Amino acid sequence: MSASSDRKFRPETRLVHAGGLRSQFGETSEALFLTQGFVYDSAESCEARFKGEEPGYLYSRFSNPTVAMFEERMAAFEGAESARATASGMAAVTASVMGQVRAGDHIVAAKALFGSCRYVVEDLMPRFGVACTLVDGKDLDQWRNAVRPNTKTFFLESPTNPTLEVVDVQEVAKIAHAAGATLVVDNVFATPLWQSPLELGADCVVYSATKHIDGQGRCLGGVILASEDFIQKHIHMLLRQTGPAMSPFNAWVLLKGLETLPVRVQRQTDNAAKIADALASHSKIKRLIYPGRADHPQAAIIRKQMRGGSNLIAFEVAGGKAGAFRFLNALKLIRITNNLGDAKSLVTHPATTTHQRLTPEQRAELGINDGLVRLSTGLEHPDDLTEDLMTALAAA
Ligand SMILES: Cc1ncc(COP(=O)(O)O)c(C=O)c1O
Repeated sequence: MSASSDRKFRPETRLVHAGGLRSQFGETSEALFLTQGFVYDSAESCEARFKGEEPGYLYSRFSNPTVAMFEERMAAFEGAESARATASGMAAVTASVMGQVRAGDHIVAAKALFGSCRYVVEDLMPRFGVACTLVDGKDLDQWRNAVRPNTKTFFLESPTNPTLEVVDVQEVAKIAHAAGATLVVDNVFATPLWQSPLELGADCVVYSATKHIDGQGRCLGGVILASEDFIQKHIHMLLRQTGPAMSPFNAWVLLKGLETLPVRVQRQTDNAAKIADALASHSKIKRLIYPGRADHPQAAIIRKQMRGGSNLIAFEVAGGKAGAFRFLNALKLIRITNNLGDAKSLVTHPATTTHQRLTPEQRAELGINDGLVRLSTGLEHPDDLTEDLMTALAAA
């Protein structure tokens, strides 16, 4: 089955079947090809494969059958022509940006980014002569005004980590294209279930597959999705020669994760919606942001570009850092961590973890104050989660 032949099926069906490469043994579940390399029947065949004149695999840093199944299944679901898997989400983000630029170029990125993504555009790229302008992603004029003749790409995430701000992907894509630049969207918080940036005009989508795609806290992974032309021009050689390859074992786990992604993310989102409603009017919560609620500041854009909320909720606990820490420490079922998208509900204090590298002023600008908590809703019964949250708030 190829990704293109699977496109006639609905998304859930593609996530179960697309990209499957069945071996001569006729296995039901996809095979794990845990091999570094491949052998050839003759020196001539080896030469032909290296010249690209004969199809087949060469070396697992370049490609591997299990990794290829994961890539094809992701591409079929996302509606992308092509996909490349990477060892982590950050490898995908770095390659998607770095592959497009040369010294002397310029990037425009939204300020509200996951800490490591912000490091890549703000600190790493300038070390190689690539300038970066950070903008308020919600303000379209700031995107327009940041453009320079040498601007090559725009980078954003929506909803953002951790304050769940939403950027108008369609409008930002138009500004990027008018400037002759591309748009890369980190779609981790939306998940492929609730938002399709390529359909909204983005040129490239990246995921940390570590999050909802695995969804059960087992392994790291990333994926870059775009047109065949974009992948060939910007990504293919960079990944092949620099080596941030996904392990076949991780690809196998993630491939199986894709089969259950819609069921899990739907249930997590339903749980998050119930919890957000239960918490919104609590006297110890000063502010609650959930993309599935009508009171989200960008609710109109959400209706336009997302098919569902998210499993993530951000809220500010009264009493600043001390209040937030009392609340976190009083939780019994929901565990403190910096990860998200898991079957287990997880809670994070962004100011002291994922965004601790930013200055207090930079955090304040993004609305990441000391009372802010990010909840990643899991698959537990929503009443157990709500009871845990209410008990901890009473103790905060
Ligand atoms: C929005 C976003 N992008 C990228 C990443 C990086 O993913 P990974 O940890 O798989 O490298 C994360 C991880 O938390 C994230 O939240």
